[in-house]
Amino acid sequence: MDFETLKNQAKKELAGLKTSGVLESWRVKYLGRNSELALFLRSLSKKSLEEKRQLGPKANQLRQFLEGAFQQKSLSLVDSQSPATDFDLTLPGRVQEPGHLHPLTLANREILKIFSSMGFDIMTGPEIEGDYYNFSALNIPDWHPARETMDTMWLSEKDLPRLKKDVKTASGYEYKKGNKFLLRTHTSPIQVRYMQTHKPPFRMVVGEGRIFRNEATDARHEFQVNQLEGLMIGKDVSMATLHFVVREFFRKFFGSKEIQMRLSPSFYPFVEPGADVSVSCIGCFGKNKDCRLCGGLGWLEVAGSGMVHPNVLRSVGIDPRKWQGFAFGFGIDRLSMIKFNIKEIRLFMSGDLKFIKQF
Ligand code: PHE
Repeated sequence: MDFETLKNQAKKELAGLKTSGVLESWRVKYLGRNSELALFLRSLSKKSLEEKRQLGPKANQLRQFLEGAFQQKSLSLVDSQSPATDFDLTLPGRVQEPGHLHPLTLANREILKIFSSMGFDIMTGPEIEGDYYNFSALNIPDWHPARETMDTMWLSEKDLPRLKKDVKTASGYEYKKGNKFLLRTHTSPIQVRYMQTHKPPFRMVVGEGRIFRNEATDARHEFQVNQLEGLMIGKDVSMATLHFVVREFFRKFFGSKEIQMRLSPSFYPFVEPGADVSVSCIGCFGKNKDCRLCGGLGWLEVAGSGMVHPNVLRSVGIDPRKWQGFAFGFGIDRLSMIKFNIKEIRLFMSGDLKFIKQF
């Protein structure tokens, strides 16, 4: 190989280059994996010791030279392409669009406004929960099958030491071996937290209720959704009060929209009796058997609810013979779908600007 000729040729070509695109082809040609020089360097290993001694240093010198020249050239190209020289006074300016809130934030704010106007306190709670709050204190002991239905995302023992501080400050109880932690599967643990620190009578709702479930997603299921938890305890709070409060809430939240509601019996370990709240399907209003949204039922389930179970009241030291009340847990995403006429829940988290910009 003739080092001198190669060097001169490379130098000459480099001097004539004007853009970083062609500079890259130059690099590939002279320094790339299949360049003459690289092939030569690889073939050196098969040569005799004498040849290696003689040619090795020369080839390396050439490589260093080419690399240096390449770097210098790329710097000088960047310099000459600086924005100052590209400045075009005649281009139109960039329009600054005003930002706006996500539909879920809009809905959440409105919901909280409605409930505070009805005298409800607003609470928040940690997203990392201990299994005591998420399950045990809610009348779901270790062995209870309801734990299975929650599709819980548990934090692994491996993660816990790393999350030690967060877990402690967030969930208010120490990381200890045997204490299990999870991403909360519902906002009901905040009922427990609230009742531990307040004396009845009271009413509260939870704002910012992000929850997590390991679910397969479809048009109405997501693995991360937002819940609106409510709790009202008093001397004579009943299912009739629940019905009134929910109806009143719908009336304000949906405004003049023709929405029908229905309560149907359901089971949740932390209420007795329990009921699901459904509203008429906005996708088909009960007229389409193949409706993607309601599965042909004509109703969309938007909440679980019921009278707080005496065991739950006992677990926080409230005497169930003196106090009673209801709790509910709404899916805010579903409520927003109905309010804004959105037929696919996964759009909320899609980050799709075409969707977001409509609100
Ligand atoms: N926490 C329940 C769920 O997410 C809903 C619920 C809340 C049911 C309050 C009853 C009372 O599935």
